Amino acid sequence: MVKRGIVFIMAIIFIFIAFSVASAAHGKKQETKKGILLVAFGSSEESAQVSFDNIDKKTKAAFPDIPVYWAYTSHIIRNKLAKQGKVLDAPEVALAKMMAEGFTHVAVQSLHTILGEEYHDLRKMVGAFNQMGGFEKIILGYPLMATQDDMVKVVDAILKNIPKERKPNEAVVLMGHGTHHPSNAFYAALMFQIQLKDPNIFVGTVEGYPEVDDIKELMVKQGVKKAYLMPFMSVAGDHAKNDMAGDEDDSWKSVLTKAGIECRPILKGTAEFDDFVNIWIDHLKAVMAHF
Ligand code: CO
Repeated sequence: MVKRGIVFIMAIIFIFIAFSVASAAHGKKQETKKGILLVAFGSSEESAQVSFDNIDKKTKAAFPDIPVYWAYTSHIIRNKLAKQGKVLDAPEVALAKMMAEGFTHVAVQSLHTILGEEYHDLRKMVGAFNQMGGFEKIILGYPLMATQDDMVKVVDAILKNIPKERKPNEAVVLMGHGTHHPSNAFYAALMFQIQLKDPNIFVGTVEGYPEVDDIKELMVKQGVKKAYLMPFMSVAGDHAKNDMAGDEDDSWKSVLTKAGIECRPILKGTAEFDDFVNIWIDHLKAVMAHF
């Protein structure tokens, strides 16, 4: 009886030691491997690629030794691209692959414009990976406009990059995407802050508030006769080409032209301008500072 008791205790001690050795080895694990995952909504338009290329180039310049991966949050865009033979991962797939490749520290950088639905879905996903414990650290970086400090930088970036030939009595109309998400309020907040510096700059949205009719009324009231139309989206894709600059009756160009405002569309996404890209890169740097 006593003998069996000793054997039993020794077996437990053995299992305990084996477990400790195994977890110590696991604890030591592979050395630190840092990676960056850039996450955009995505676009299937050829004209959008210049924006993504610019962000990719600037990210690699800021972090030359760290592998950079891409993912698109829009499954519609991913499916469209897949039909053209271009495979882009969803963020969860990209993260699973990075986990399998042994990355220990992952910076997920949102390339969205506001803290909207896409950003919050991404936040939940990063939280899930965090819970899973596959990475030592996984942190999500803010989109373009998250803090008041960002708003100030965005206002400066807009003022620096509006067309040089534009006269003060001519308007600049920025077309944001807009959303049903509560963060839609960022667009009106941006218009307020930019108008403190230049009352002829307007911010509207395609799918939220303010709508084009809201800003049209303001422009008519201010006697605007000419306006430069620019997308306030990272890429000049479908919305910029069609909803903003298209010839359809309900495009912004048509709506404003009918109101007596001569329109000059500029098909350039915010990510084509370094002043905007630097804001995303600053957010990524803030994340990397934790690694
Ligand atoms: Co859209």
